[in-house]
Amino acid sequence: MACSKLVQEIALKGESVPERHFVKQDHVIPPAIDAPSRLWEHTLLIDYSLLSSSSSLTHQKELTRLHYALKHWGCFQVINHDITSSFLEELMKVAKEFFSLPIEDKLRYSVGDDFFNGYSNANEIVDNNALNWCDRLFLTVVPEDQRRLEFWPKNPENFRDILNEYSESLRLMLEVLLKAVARSLGLEEDGFLRQHGDQGSISTRLGMYPPCPHPDRVYGVRPHSDESTITVLLQDKDVPEGLHVLKDDQWFKVPVTPGALFINLGDFGEVMSNGIFKSVMHRVVTNPVKERVSVAAFCTPHPETDVEPIAELVSSNRPKMYNKVNKMTFKQIYMHTYPQGKKVVDALHV
Ligand code: OGA
Ligand code: NI
Repeated sequence: MACSKLVQEIALKGESVPERHFVKQDHVIPPAIDAPSRLWEHTLLIDYSLLSSSSSLTHQKELTRLHYALKHWGCFQVINHDITSSFLEELMKVAKEFFSLPIEDKLRYSVGDDFFNGYSNANEIVDNNALNWCDRLFLTVVPEDQRRLEFWPKNPENFRDILNEYSESLRLMLEVLLKAVARSLGLEEDGFLRQHGDQGSISTRLGMYPPCPHPDRVYGVRPHSDESTITVLLQDKDVPEGLHVLKDDQWFKVPVTPGALFINLGDFGEVMSNGIFKSVMHRVVTNPVKERVSVAAFCTPHPETDVEPIAELVSSNRPKMYNKVNKMTFKQIYMHTYPQGKKVVDALHV
């Protein structure tokens, strides 16, 4: 269900950007700054190979660094993971090939009866705020029996194989990351996984951001936090300045580090951590000349699981900060908080 036009079509036809994509007259998109290079090259750069190693000193140090990243920023980049750079390039290539298909071919995969899987523009909520300048293809990849293969493109030919292989890698990565997140809080390693659940899902979202002549007044994706426990994002190395994260009311550019994946905590992750870790507010800006493609993977708990702060993280010093929430109640709250530019977790405070 496309609530408004596919933006790639508008861009390809050279039509002007519809008014509904512009931020309000009196609103300026606050500028982002470069973080000191040490931040992304050191402080928020996590070595995956050290996260699952035994309890060596380097392992403990990496967990401390992970703790710092999630507490103060809610995100980091991960390197030395098990997915090769050539595979990630291949994944980016098939994503770009999909978006460069003729419109008729893409429309075959238009969002279907679940209003989730499929191809559409990225505006599931149409409110008074500016619409996102982005199209996307959403596909649930895990668990396998939740896949809706009718929305999986057959063209490019290797699309399905690549996405299938990527989902297996994501599943393994999710487990390693959630175990490390739990250990970094002094919990048993399955502390987060237990709530996330064996039947937690992973949905990938291929995003297309066509060039936009008004980057000062049109967002790629408006400021938001993700619903997920964690999100894994592959950025487009050809467009180094698309993603920004917010910390202490300041927007920071996220550089593209070759071979790295960007990981952020989502609202479910924040709830589980009882607010010790933060889901990061982030946004995508538009580029006047370059189109940008990204592949996000949202790891979310099973729809019927009630998520709440992990018991060991609740104490008299740190009382329970959030009420229980599951996917359904989350969506209901989201309908109100997203238009206000707020995080869902902010409406969950006890
Ligand atoms: C999202 C998102 C970032 C990107 O879809 O939630 O934050 O770079 N995407 O596309
Ligand atoms: Ni996001």
